[in-house]
Amino acid sequence: MSAIHLLRKLSRRPPSRLHRNLLSSTFSMDLPPDLARTTLIRPFSNRPTIFNNTHRLIPSCFRQLNLLPNWVSEKKKSISVSLREFSTSVVETNTSDKAFERVVGLNPNPLVIERIHNGEETIGESVSGGEIIGNKIEKSEETLVREESEAEKEAWRILEDAVVRYCGSPVGTVAANDPGDKLPLNYDQVFIRDFVPSALAFLLKGEGEIVRNFLLHTLQLQSWEKTVDCYSPGQGLMPASFKVRTVTLDENTTEEVLDPDFGESAIGRVAPVDSGLWWIILLRAYGKLTGDFSLQERIDVQTGIKLIMNLCLADGFDMFPTLLVTDGSCMIDRRMGIHGHPLEIQSLFYSALRCSREMLSANDSSNNLVRAINNRLSALSFHIREYYWVDIRKINEIYRYKTEEYSTDATNKFNIYPEQIPPWLMDWIPEQGGYLLGNLQPAHMDFRFFTLGNFWSVVSSLSTPKQNEAILNLIEAKWDDIIGNTPLKICYPALEYDDWRIITGSDPKNTPWSYHNSGSWPTLLWQFTLACMKMGRPELAEKALALAEKRLMADRWPEYYDTRSGKFIGKQSRLYQTWTVAGFLTSKLLLANPEMASKLFWEEDYELLDICVCGLSKSGRKKCSRVAAKTQILVR
Ligand code: GLC
Repeated sequence: MSAIHLLRKLSRRPPSRLHRNLLSSTFSMDLPPDLARTTLIRPFSNRPTIFNNTHRLIPSCFRQLNLLPNWVSEKKKSISVSLREFSTSVVETNTSDKAFERVVGLNPNPLVIERIHNGEETIGESVSGGEIIGNKIEKSEETLVREESEAEKEAWRILEDAVVRYCGSPVGTVAANDPGDKLPLNYDQVFIRDFVPSALAFLLKGEGEIVRNFLLHTLQLQSWEKTVDCYSPGQGLMPASFKVRTVTLDENTTEEVLDPDFGESAIGRVAPVDSGLWWIILLRAYGKLTGDFSLQERIDVQTGIKLIMNLCLADGFDMFPTLLVTDGSCMIDRRMGIHGHPLEIQSLFYSALRCSREMLSANDSSNNLVRAINNRLSALSFHIREYYWVDIRKINEIYRYKTEEYSTDATNKFNIYPEQIPPWLMDWIPEQGGYLLGNLQPAHMDFRFFTLGNFWSVVSSLSTPKQNEAILNLIEAKWDDIIGNTPLKICYPALEYDDWRIITGSDPKNTPWSYHNSGSWPTLLWQFTLACMKMGRPELAEKALALAEKRLMADRWPEYYDTRSGKFIGKQSRLYQTWTVAGFLTSKLLLANPEMASKLFWEEDYELLDICVCGLSKSGRKKCSRVAAKTQILVR
């Protein structure tokens, strides 16, 4: 049977061009007798999965529905049941011990947290050394016991209830599980960005299976043939969310399918630029926290990383190294005036670049990509550190800017009119501290403080060590505005009056101090915790977490809070919002496990600061503006 024929038979949709190419090249290969490379097409996707000779993947659905393809010999079927339980993969028995270890991911001895049960009740958790078997972490010795609070116990129950299964295996968590919600819209789906804190909570608890399944299944969705009004976005786009649907085949048979949403049904038809970036960040976190690096080494996973990176690094019309996106392409997925080069996307992009550089296997096919990644990392960090940074000194500099400067060494490069400095900022900016702008475009600075972008810049070292410190100083100085009664404001301040009308398009959900327009989102706690821990200031996170702990359980885990001080449960807030629950648990677990937390952030990469590819030297006719500015950046 030809590759395309087999693919059509198994897949629900016709193969995309990429797959046709991948397949024909794989199938036309002369396979050595030991099946040096094997291709198998998953039943509900048109993505081919290519493996090396140590393992071959059989989708869980094949097993669940007793549809083991006939190429699986009896010998292969006899693989131990325990191994099958660990993942959607079945491992061939002819593997060497070493290969076996790679596939199941035996781990040096990471820290482990286990929940302690007293009959029905969970009464605490123990932290211990352990080793990974498959994607379960086996406990070896107890080192610490920590009592779980009532809120934590309830949070775990809610998180476990939110788990979504596909053919019997856990693959993600729904966005919200509000029993009173008669119109869940897409909150009954698994969102890629929402799953990240759930994934971290599971990983920190020692459970890898759900995360591994999530990563592999969303990887398949990446290559779905997708169109909005007959137009297809680039290969590599990850969906915003997916849903497990049951479809009827005939009177007696149903089957489960994964149905992704790439923005073609999402409100506003927004393309989720952040999904692929989060996927890469989570893939690295999975390896770091479980010690199972075999997942990221797989050829199909490597291809997935490359597709995302190629999409992000594609040449365009851009003059800046920042990623150009439409409004609503991230956590703020509605019109909020963040089109262009919003900080949140830039900091996630920077992290994903760093993760990819770490995870891409070095070989001839990845060399050019790695070079492009290094160049972009260096240019991006320079650009953000130099042009996005604001503190009292910089505001004073902008206040005195000359405009209309036509030259390569202009001070006011983006032609910012000083009148743009909003009046609130003049009073608000503290003497100590600073932050990164929300967005920067020609003649336009968005001075709003965006929380996620700033925290993630700290976590990924997109900003300098001094800037990182200053960001936390600013939070401390502006505690009531950013943390308020219930942490954490998504941005500050709100768009009001004409700004709200013009910039949000009079969005009734994004009224001032509500939802994305400066509402307070408890899920942001875990990112704050990570940033504080990185900067050696966990007490700030503990203080915020204590505030959240007082409110969240009593308020039934809302999605967001409203008002300037975050006092009221959001007007249209879902209750039992999973990433509120997971963000809380992840913060708790991170604080209890500094060693694990440290695997999730990055220190300054001094090598990157030396890379400059513009080719202009000090002595040339033109000067490299970076060379002049770099010392400033390092000392700031
Ligand atoms: C809202 C949020 C988005 C989130 C989704 C599911 O659309 O803006 O960030 O992913 O709900 O919770």
